[in-house]
Amino acid sequence: SRVVKLAVIPGDGIGPEVIAEAEKVLDAATAASGIRFDKTHFSLGAGRFLETGDTLTDADLVSIAAHDAILLGAVGGVPGDPRLKDANIERGLLLRLRFELDHYVNLRPSKLYPGVPGPLAEPGDIDFVVVREGTEGPYVGNGGSIRRGTPHEVANETSVNTAFGVERVVRYAFDLAERRGKKVTLVHKTNVLVHAGGIWKRIVDAVSAEHPDVAVDYLHVDAATIFLVTNPGRFDVIVTDNLFGDILTDLAGAVTGGIGLAASGNINPDGAFPSMFEPVHGSAPDIAGQQKADPTAAILSTALLLDHLGLHGESLAVTRAVEADIADRGSASRTTAQIGDDIVARLRA
Ligand code: NAD
Ligand code: IPM
Ligand code: MN
Repeated sequence: SRVVKLAVIPGDGIGPEVIAEAEKVLDAATAASGIRFDKTHFSLGAGRFLETGDTLTDADLVSIAAHDAILLGAVGGVPGDPRLKDANIERGLLLRLRFELDHYVNLRPSKLYPGVPGPLAEPGDIDFVVVREGTEGPYVGNGGSIRRGTPHEVANETSVNTAFGVERVVRYAFDLAERRGKKVTLVHKTNVLVHAGGIWKRIVDAVSAEHPDVAVDYLHVDAATIFLVTNPGRFDVIVTDNLFGDILTDLAGAVTGGIGLAASGNINPDGAFPSMFEPVHGSAPDIAGQQKADPTAAILSTALLLDHLGLHGESLAVTRAVEADIADRGSASRTTAQIGDDIVARLRA
């Protein structure tokens, strides 16, 4: 029987609550197929930092990298907590994992499932994927400031866009579109960010010449937020940089029934490093510890994980169980664990 080495990072806030349910579902989905998940749990996040001062040690990183895949809940404390200065958890832990493990595709599917009460009156069919670049853009952290705290302070945050980095993620987006609705929308801000936008536009045009059957569309990011609300059905595959992709996917989550349903994969398509699967949402300190979080995003992230591991049948079973759970949701409120248990029960049925 196949053994999959899985690193599990529950993290902070609602992270451990939603990951507990995701693990139940993963076990139930693979029980019949004889696949065994050999799991290692890593205690990482704001909690560990406040106790020990560690974010992600080199030893943690080496150990995590030796797994086949990673499942992550959410990390980060209460925004603005003075004990967690300078984005040390976000940068030192989450982004360090994405960068060191070369997760250059941040895959964020958005689908409006039947029965989901979304905010749009006439949503139409919503089924698109945001291919967010994961290792470059304004996230690289090579900015700086001088004369900090004085009236003459100068602060810079540079967006890094390499031909290598943009081309590989754009190629991924076109390959994905070939297998889906055959349309790629580049989202950027070429009217202002002429250098960063220019390289994206030129590479998309060049790669698109190799995919004559894939329609290409371009939107400035501000206009893209309009269409995500007024006509989300126009999108199939959106390709965009790290920061625009971050913002668009929270909006996409809200439009498709809430951030509690939005799953993601940080993918290293070359397979040189383990890919990492996590809900799009954060640690939600406002509802943490109360069993109020919806674990569906974490559970759907396990479906992406199973798919990535080639376990397509198991992945589909999880998605179907979630779809059925969503379709049957009444107004009764359930705890995080009840939602997980209900989805497990459907898998076993
Ligand atoms: P957030 O996503 O944690 O919360 C935004 C809002 O959505 C909150 O009202 C929250 O209660 C709600 N929400 C989030 N997930 C939910 C779920 N599963 N079910 C129901 N409601 C849910 O964003 P934030 O408040 O900006 O960030 C909180 C912390 O999380 C910060 O430290 C931030 O840096 C971190 N963060 C981490 C990740 C990650 O680990 N991938 C992602 C985003 C934010
Ligand atoms: C996300 C989060 C992260 C991001 C933060 C916590 C670094 O918002 O996964 O969407 O900006 O990528
Ligand atoms: Mn985000």
